[in-house]
Order: sequence, then C-alpha cells, then structure tokens
Amino acid sequence: SVADMKGLKQGYLKITVVTTAKYVIPRLLGPFCQRYPGVEISLKVTNHSGVLERLSENKDDLYILSQVPDEPDVKSHPFLANPLVVLANHDHPLAKEKNIPIQQLAEQPFITRESGSGTRAYVQQLFDAHKITPKVKMELASNEAIKQAIAGGLGISILSRHTIALEGASGQIAILDVENFPIPCHWYVIHLAGKQLSVVAQTFLEYLQTEGKQIAEDTTW
Ligand code: PGA
Repeated sequence: SVADMKGLKQGYLKITVVTTAKYVIPRLLGPFCQRYPGVEISLKVTNHSGVLERLSENKDDLYILSQVPDEPDVKSHPFLANPLVVLANHDHPLAKEKNIPIQQLAEQPFITRESGSGTRAYVQQLFDAHKITPKVKMELASNEAIKQAIAGGLGISILSRHTIALEGASGQIAILDVENFPIPCHWYVIHLAGKQLSVVAQTFLEYLQTEGKQIAEDTTW
C-alpha cells in the first residue's frame, strides 16, 4: 500500500461523518490505529448539512455521508450500505404484522430528525412520493434520543439500521416490516476534488474500502 511504500509513521487525520456513521467508523479506527500507532485522528460527527458546511470550508481530509453533493466538486467512493428502517417499540401492535402498507405509517405518532439531517430528507422524499403526511409528535436531533423516545412509547421513527447494530432488533426496539422499506441508502467517502490527500488520508481511504468495509460488514448486518 501507499503507507508501506512511504513508511507511514505519523500524521494527523481529520474526518467528519454523518450521525449514522458514528455507529460504524469508531470501531474501524481501532485496527487502523493499532497498525499505525503514530497516526492521530480527529473524528467529528454532525448531520448532513453540518458535513457539507465543513466540506465547503475545507476543514477535513475525508467526509462520510449518504447524498453526494453536486457542489463543491468532490471525488466520491462508495463505502457501505446504510438502509433506513422503520423502528417501533417492541410491544407495538404493528411489530407482529407482515407487509404493513406504507400508508399505515400516517396513523402513527412519528418522531422525526431535525431539518438538515440526510435521514430526514430521505424519509421526506419517500413520504412525498406516497403522499403521506406523518403525524409528527416530536423532533429530535439525535438518533440515540429518538431510540429512547421509541423505547418510552412516544411513537415510531425511521432511522439507519446501523443505529441499533449493537443491541440488534431483539432489544426494546423492533424493525417493522413495512412495504417500500428499507430505504436503500449508501454511504460514500468523499473529499474535495482539488485536494491533494495526505499519505495518512490516502491510506485510511484505502483501508475503509477494503478491510474496514469487511470488518463493518462482518460485525453489523
Ligand atoms: P444524518 O445522516 O441524518 O445524520 O444527516 C444522513 C446520511 O446518512 O448522510
């Protein structure tokens, strides 16, 4: 790899990822940092618009998100599937149903992510396409807080399946079997097209697309 050729010993790597990717990326940093102990990493987690803002200000080496922007000019590399699923309390009556028509979601108290969230944008697109107006009960800017709200019986939501990877669907939160789900999203690693990547950034990008991807696929879904 590039790293071996150049004898990578130390360096600084700055990454910003969307909130859904925080369920995967920190775990992948473990083996990478063990291999390159001199590399120091700063990882920022924000929503889709937060990532775009940092990208436009050239704040980081690499970014991870689902919707690749048209502007500014970026190079993008497909990384991992990020399916969006309908989540409900395990005791919810719909948890036992199969092939729930998507229209039924309009009947349920709904917990939505904040505006600026890519997850929210995907959900909005699907709802618009099916002319569904959700009964929004609450808006929360945190996947974890939404999970807690679901566990507390406040309503249902649509989040990345990665948000429940650690506990699985066997815990307090169930994945509902709704028609048109999961929404098939995909994460991309991107960087400014005009930016010369550092050896560390190039090495991490390679790692993500090969071993990192493998580890994530083996340890998630
Ligand atoms: P977000 O993530 O909801 O945290 O903005 C969206 C994405 O996957 O790009």
